[in-house]
Amino acid sequence: MHPIEFVSTSPVFLSHKDSVKTKFARHDYFNIARTKIGNDVWIGEGVFIKSGVTIGDGAVVGMGSVVTKDVPPYTIFAGNPARLIRKRFTEEISRKLLKSEWWKYNDEQLVKHAQFFTDPEKFLEKIGS
Ligand SMILES: CC(C)(COP(=O)(O)OP(=O)(O)OC[C@H]1O[C@@H](n2cnc3c(N)ncnc32)[C@H](O)[C@@H]1OP(=O)(O)O)[C@@H](O)C(=O)NCCC(=O)NCCS
Repeated sequence: MHPIEFVSTSPVFLSHKDSVKTKFARHDYFNIARTKIGNDVWIGEGVFIKSGVTIGDGAVVGMGSVVTKDVPPYTIFAGNPARLIRKRFTEEISRKLLKSEWWKYNDEQLVKHAQFFTDPEKFLEKIGS
């Protein structure tokens, strides 16, 4: 982000290091909102994500989207601005998958359970969720 609340948005008036050679002032400007991408998120080709946005675990962002707001877990968002297309699973399955935190499994556990990945309900049943 550049400072939209200053007289100018230009980095020629800011202190931080950048590619700009000429500096007319060196005002401090810290506006680095942390962007968080969850586990097992699929971000399509050519997506732009605004700084500070959180994309939840298991979410999908459609190709060419401009993401300006948070994307909840296990939802599919797309478009400009990105909006909900649909949810991937029922609320119950999404909740159980989140609770399982299967992405923390080690390689051995993944090999053991991945055979059920084509069927989320069966996978959850097998892990005793
Ligand atoms: C988001 C995505 C996964 C949805 O796939 P899908 O479930 O088959 O969705 P559909 O094609 O049935 O579309 C559902 C709706 O979303 C819209 N839509 C789908 N993808 C969209 C996108 N990227 N931007 C805007 N709208 C989109 C469709 O137009 C449709 O709208 P409608 O209900 O008004 O007719 C897919 O479109 C996509 O973007 N995949 C990413 C591909 C990619 O980038 N691959 C390379 C990197 S790995």
